[in-house]
Amino acid sequence: MKQFLDLAKERYSVRRFKPDPIPDDILAQILEAARVAPSAKNTRPHKIYVLQSEQALAKVRALTPCAFDAPCVLVVGFDTERECKTERLGGRRFGETDVAIAMTHMMLCAWDLGIGSCYVGWFDPAQLREAFGIPSTVEVCALLPLGYAADDVVPNERHSILRDAADTIAYM
Ligand SMILES: Cc1cc2nc3c(=O)[nH]c(=O)nc-3n(C[C@H](O)[C@H](O)[C@H](O)COP(=O)(O)O)c2cc1C
Repeated sequence: MKQFLDLAKERYSVRRFKPDPIPDDILAQILEAARVAPSAKNTRPHKIYVLQSEQALAKVRALTPCAFDAPCVLVVGFDTERECKTERLGGRRFGETDVAIAMTHMMLCAWDLGIGSCYVGWFDPAQLREAFGIPSTVEVCALLPLGYAADDVVPNERHSILRDAADTIAYM
């Protein structure tokens, strides 16, 4: 296991993959990283659909340019009936935040295990729900293509465009 900050700095979005499948034990660890992620009021509303069959992958590739021919794509959402919602605090909802945390756990765990990934929001949730028969109670938020990075993959130039800490952090 790497030092955490090294891992967080090294990870970058992978958008080209080898066709090799992800071994089951590696995929299980990535999914476990989502299972242990924190969530508002511990509601754990995550719902993850694992697309690995040729048929399922063909469907998702037809619905987004960002499946990147990965050998595995996770469709990640949350159950609106489990989601933490508040009547007070302006009616805040936390399902999408819970998904984002689980996504982050999975991306970092995957990287630690030698698997590349990319957080993808570029798809129409309604189309995806219909294509995979996902219940209307599940809100789909993100896709996570996963796989071994192609040999010549390098970070996108945006990976190293960071903002100064002084622009994003205020000490009070
Ligand atoms: C909420 C969210 C949505 C994103 N959606 C997409 C997407 O649809 N397609 C894509 O190629 N990258 C997507 N990305 C990846 C970002 O472009 C990427 O994380 C950013 O440019 C920094 O690069 P890095 O991940 O290599 O450090 C998304 C990232 C986040 C956090």
